[in-house]
Amino acid sequence: MKTDDLREAYLEFFASKGCVRKPSDVLAPNDPTVLFTPAGMNQFKREFMGLGDPSFKRATTCQKCIRTGDIENVGKTPRHMTFFEMLGNFSFGDYFKREAIHWAWEFLTKTLSISPNRLTFTVYQDDDEAFDIWHKEVGVPTDRIKRLGEDDNFWPAGAPTHGPNGVCGPCSEIFYHGDGIEEVEIWNLVFTQFNRVGPGQLEPLPNKNIDTGMGLERAAAALQGAKSNFEIDLFIPIVAAAADALGIDYAKVKDSLDGVRIRRAADHARTLSFCLHENIRFGPEKQGYVIRRLLRRAVLDAYQMGRREPFLYTLAPVVAEAMKGGYPEIADSVPRIQHAIRDEEERFLRNLENGMRLLNDAFRKTKAAGSDVISGADAFDLHSTYGIPVEVTESLAADQNLRIDTEGFESARVKFAAVSRGSTEAADVFAVGPLDTLKEAYHQGSAFLGYTTTESPARVIGILEQGKLADYAQKSDGGPAIALVLDQTPFYGESGGQVGDVGVIKGKDFTFHVEDTKKENDFFLHLGRVVEGRVDVGAEATATVDAGRRQAIRRAHSATHLLHNALHKHLGKHAQQAGSKVEPDRLRFDFSNPEAVGKERLQAIEETVNDLVMTGAPVQWSLMPIAEAKTLGAMALFGEKYPEIVRVVQMGDFSRELCGGTHLDSVGQVGLFKILGEESVAAGTRRIVALTGKAALDFIRQEEAALGDLAASLRVPANQVSGRVAALLEEVKTLKKQASQRKPESGPKATADDLLTNARTAGDAVAVIASVEATADEMRVLIDGLRRKRPEGLAVLLAAASEGKVQLVAAFSKDLVDKGRHAGQWLKKVAPAVGGGGGGRPDMAQAGGKDPAKIPDALELAWTVVREELGG
Ligand code: ALA
Repeated sequence: MKTDDLREAYLEFFASKGCVRKPSDVLAPNDPTVLFTPAGMNQFKREFMGLGDPSFKRATTCQKCIRTGDIENVGKTPRHMTFFEMLGNFSFGDYFKREAIHWAWEFLTKTLSISPNRLTFTVYQDDDEAFDIWHKEVGVPTDRIKRLGEDDNFWPAGAPTHGPNGVCGPCSEIFYHGDGIEEVEIWNLVFTQFNRVGPGQLEPLPNKNIDTGMGLERAAAALQGAKSNFEIDLFIPIVAAAADALGIDYAKVKDSLDGVRIRRAADHARTLSFCLHENIRFGPEKQGYVIRRLLRRAVLDAYQMGRREPFLYTLAPVVAEAMKGGYPEIADSVPRIQHAIRDEEERFLRNLENGMRLLNDAFRKTKAAGSDVISGADAFDLHSTYGIPVEVTESLAADQNLRIDTEGFESARVKFAAVSRGSTEAADVFAVGPLDTLKEAYHQGSAFLGYTTTESPARVIGILEQGKLADYAQKSDGGPAIALVLDQTPFYGESGGQVGDVGVIKGKDFTFHVEDTKKENDFFLHLGRVVEGRVDVGAEATATVDAGRRQAIRRAHSATHLLHNALHKHLGKHAQQAGSKVEPDRLRFDFSNPEAVGKERLQAIEETVNDLVMTGAPVQWSLMPIAEAKTLGAMALFGEKYPEIVRVVQMGDFSRELCGGTHLDSVGQVGLFKILGEESVAAGTRRIVALTGKAALDFIRQEEAALGDLAASLRVPANQVSGRVAALLEEVKTLKKQASQRKPESGPKATADDLLTNARTAGDAVAVIASVEATADEMRVLIDGLRRKRPEGLAVLLAAASEGKVQLVAAFSKDLVDKGRHAGQWLKKVAPAVGGGGGGRPDMAQAGGKDPAKIPDALELAWTVVREELGG
């Protein structure tokens, strides 16, 4: 029998017994006591405690579960897996032991046609009732029924002695015996009939429950005659793909360490695919940290097999294909899953290279110190920082005849675990809070009126002060916020990304400022402070939401749906919502996309949203069964748990989403939609931040004002600012270029004063004979300067070198010219020294030359000539 068929047969069988077929809960449930859903019963905790809808009494599910307690055994044993499916049937104060046992027998032996000879059973040591039902009513011979203690046949295991307190019960397990295969437990029937109040103290519950769990993969393995879960139809292709990706012939290595590694990779790839599909992201804590460790383990395994490139991501499409019978929705997420895994693999591989270096350093350090024990702290650091499991360090160390201080490692680990622990898998499952007490009196929770009004009469039904119920509360200065619970309320409690409302609750004797509203357990908690008088449980009041703020939130929320729609239009259906935050006139929307959206597409998206706004289409909502909503194509969020009856928000004919938020009456009320920017939040996940309504207008006005200021300082109209700035930039560029072309050795330019200071005297005259850094024009300017400073008795000859040529300029003051001096003649004698010639007027002449290296010679010659002429 195929695994898909087994899943379906089970659910159909129990539906025929009156159990309501419920969908699997998400993997990371909204439950502070667990990181991941560990069992089918987890989503029914409230029903087990008698706090659920009294008309809901029987259920059956196939639950996606993750357990990581036995992670080290995955791939080594035939049964351990991190992700698995648990088939279950549940009774909430309805059918009990007799039906649970008879139906299990009927399903196994009739529906699945398993021979009774292949089955054995265990019951709790004192549970004669269960023993008798198996033996006397079903007809199982006594030698096939074993009685075991609380560690084996109680759930949670060992509860009578070790706790936790709360609902618990004996269980009966069913084992399958295949040919040449070790017996395997395939089904656990838990009879939750006690409330544990202390060690060994079990009080009978008024309502007895049934909680059963059948591991889908192990049951399928039994039916398929497979020796291990990894050999069932669902898993064969994933294992094969893992071996393929690593370039290994699986059949050859099946029984070796490499076989373990390949199975581990297959298991982890499946777990990661489901988690990423449900928008759990790699991260430093909680679920994100667990999946990061799974990935690292798999990459490290591959690394030890010589693989230096990412490979795990290639398994995602194979997982989606293998699992499509039960979970067709994974296929759509494959590109996003692959992107996230690959990115994380690449990061870790880089990290790993460093880790391996560190590991070798630790080996060297240890040997140099003459020791053969690697410190526990070093080993733990390698483990926690670089993700190198201690057994890897251990085996690599053993290769070098070193060992690890395991005690030191353990104490480092314990210290670290205290910081990063999430929660145990079974403990605390039945923790009861103050709201549970309230729930006993107010079964329906608080009624929410906020879809149609922002003000309503209400009665205070509970006051929570620091986690405890109180009878009254009064004005106090400072102190922590308290919570009022009302029978009905217009206040929206933070959920689905939309922030909670603020406002006022006012009664005859008190005023309470609501600073935030949260939703918990069907109740709305109005968090805030009594600012006047005293509020008592039972008080009548008027609850008033800050309506202006609420309207701004409505604008942002409706715009979020329009944005989601526009993203699908411009990027494609893969641009699934991965998170959102809706605040007054501001929204943040995370979605899957492998790369940056780019300016042009972002503009097109903004345009589409504004076009949709301008349609002024009506916004309507209705309640309908989830199946119907999905058939209508309503967009839902993966990893989000939806109730049976969902609210569908529809805008015109273009958008339909499952949503509990408060929305506008018409999309036109958004007013204006302005995107502020787009950025990356995680591998394959992008974020858009945008404004609506007044905030969008204010933003544009601010930009406008900034542009106005700029235009004023540039003294151009606003529409010429960019042209002016471009011109200025061009000018800056040119100037920079000129500056950089100047010869680096060039010092400060010579001035007329400098030149005069260094001039030589010849008789009554001075002779300025110098080499300068200047163009011909600049030299003439210099000469003008010299003439002004020394109008008489001046002889000048300047030389400048530029690009392999020499420029000479000479001049005499008028009085010297009058005495017969001739600048042109002077140059004629000097220029040949630099390989040139030239001449000119008596007062001013110019010449060229080809040999800058000879400038000093030329200047010396010039001095000799002029000194003679001037008679110095
Ligand atoms: N909750 C029971 C288990 O997990 C069925 O085994």
